[in-house]
Amino acid sequence: MTTTISPLIAGNWKMNCLRGLLDELTALAGMLTTGEAPRAIVVICPPATILSEVAQLGAIAGIQAGGQDCHAQAHGAHTGDISAGMLADAGAQYVIVGHSERRADHGEIDAQVLAKAEAAIGAGLKPIVCVGETEAQRDSGEAETVVAAQLAASVPDAAGQHEVIVAYEPIWAIGTGRTPTVQDITHMHAAIRQQLTARFAEKGLTMRILYGGSLKPQNARKILAVENVNGGLVGGASLLAKDFYTIISSV
Ligand code: 13P
Repeated sequence: MTTTISPLIAGNWKMNCLRGLLDELTALAGMLTTGEAPRAIVVICPPATILSEVAQLGAIAGIQAGGQDCHAQAHGAHTGDISAGMLADAGAQYVIVGHSERRADHGEIDAQVLAKAEAAIGAGLKPIVCVGETEAQRDSGEAETVVAAQLAASVPDAAGQHEVIVAYEPIWAIGTGRTPTVQDITHMHAAIRQQLTARFAEKGLTMRILYGGSLKPQNARKILAVENVNGGLVGGASLLAKDFYTIISSV
């Protein structure tokens, strides 16, 4: 972990949570307020239906809320979509954009991810821009090229003046229980850091680069200690307060 960057651990609840999961949030808030103060900024990105409850409940324990996606437009005739301003209005401070599940399920391309990240900044949110290669791309030695192209085309120029977070999530590691080796994570995060500093100079040195993909209580300490890993984006293991708390405490 780069010591000058305060780490951030974000939970991505994906399409998983009915209101009952708010009990897990209450439990997590209890752990965070009674235990040792967390060394990481803690963010939960729940489904939009319970975003405002998460923002309110979480605030007691310093947990911040985020959306899982936003539309690139501020408002208009886009049935079923949610704008960045609406997320902010519901209490969000962050929003994930370009998650591989949205790139795959909704055919989102880099240009759309870029527009969403710009919309997020425009609404006062901090975008978490996701990048990552498929297993075939890693096997053929293209992982760094693919990620570099996604970064170049999805991270907005405004990242030079506003807070933008990058999340490296190898697609083959998401929900599979498999992770890259520490050496592979080290290489990829160093390459991302190099690209960010080449583009944003000093600012690139302070941008957070999260790791995501089967981050669990068992591997969190090892992965979060890697240089240029400034926190994590956690899926499955963020649904249980005990597991998520263990990951937060691993920082
Ligand atoms: P898992 O932690 O379940 O692998 O999911 C990672 C992820 O996609 C977070 O955005």
